[in-house]
Amino acid sequence: MKVTVVGAGNVGATCANVLAHRDFLQEVVLLDIKEGTAEGKALDTWQQAPIDYYSTRVIGVTNDYEKTANSDVVVITSGLPRKPGMSRDDLISTNANIVKSVTENITRHSPDAIIIVVSNPLDVMTYCAFLTAQKDSSKVFGMAGILDTARYRAFLADEIGCSPKDIQAILLGGHGDTMVPLPRYTTVGGIPVTELVAADKLEAIIQRTKVGGGEIVNLLGTSAWYAPGAAAAQMTEAILKDEKRIFPCCAWLTGEYGQKDIYLGVPVILGKNGIEKIIELQLNESEQELLNTSATHVKEVMNVLDNMKVVA
Ligand code: LAC
Repeated sequence: MKVTVVGAGNVGATCANVLAHRDFLQEVVLLDIKEGTAEGKALDTWQQAPIDYYSTRVIGVTNDYEKTANSDVVVITSGLPRKPGMSRDDLISTNANIVKSVTENITRHSPDAIIIVVSNPLDVMTYCAFLTAQKDSSKVFGMAGILDTARYRAFLADEIGCSPKDIQAILLGGHGDTMVPLPRYTTVGGIPVTELVAADKLEAIIQRTKVGGGEIVNLLGTSAWYAPGAAAAQMTEAILKDEKRIFPCCAWLTGEYGQKDIYLGVPVILGKNGIEKIIELQLNESEQELLNTSATHVKEVMNVLDNMKVVA
């Protein structure tokens, strides 16, 4: 089993580091365009191994895609992160060219790899990788829902005063401020969240979740990395161990949820074949309306990419 993480910035390096800690891979290749960055972070991760007890070796390379050959899973984190005041969509022109060229290089050396996109704007960069890779959509998808749900679960844990481990939740839609957390599908140790959190508090948590990425950008001056990197690692692990985990992921829809020809966050089953099933929930009218609004927004940004003609 071989994994490549493209981009040794904060998110990519965290993803490789978390994968090493999981200790189920022989090797993870970490690739960056900046000389020394991937090599340095890989070496640092190896020097952490005797302390944290793992054997996985992270190998850092500068733009050497030959070293990524025959990867089973490739995580693409390349591209610029947000700065305060920017939306994820502001990154489209720079990051589309980067994601396209990375995907071309990856597919050349690992034609069968499953591709997990993390670059922003997430839904549209996943679409960009899909158009470029020209492979089945079950093998090209994006990481966003695990992160967004994790934020929602963390905020709920604070509010309830319980462990985040005991909160189960699902969230739909694009990775942006129109995402759709679903309180009707949120439980705490099996108890419906509405029995433990007052309606106004729950609504405030939902609003905070929607702008959860922006909250971190405002604090740090750049995007988050611990939770995003760990989320991408969790997807990788679910695939390579064929765990059949149910996660919200950014998936290509062909009519599910009334949406077609669009990448959007929905619950899926992840296993060795990538997305093995898209789970369709029975939404009520207001949930469906929120999802439609989110889809309209994602579609607009997808159209921007189409009009840029980055990908023929
Ligand atoms: C975030 C970025 C990674 O939500 O999109 O933090």
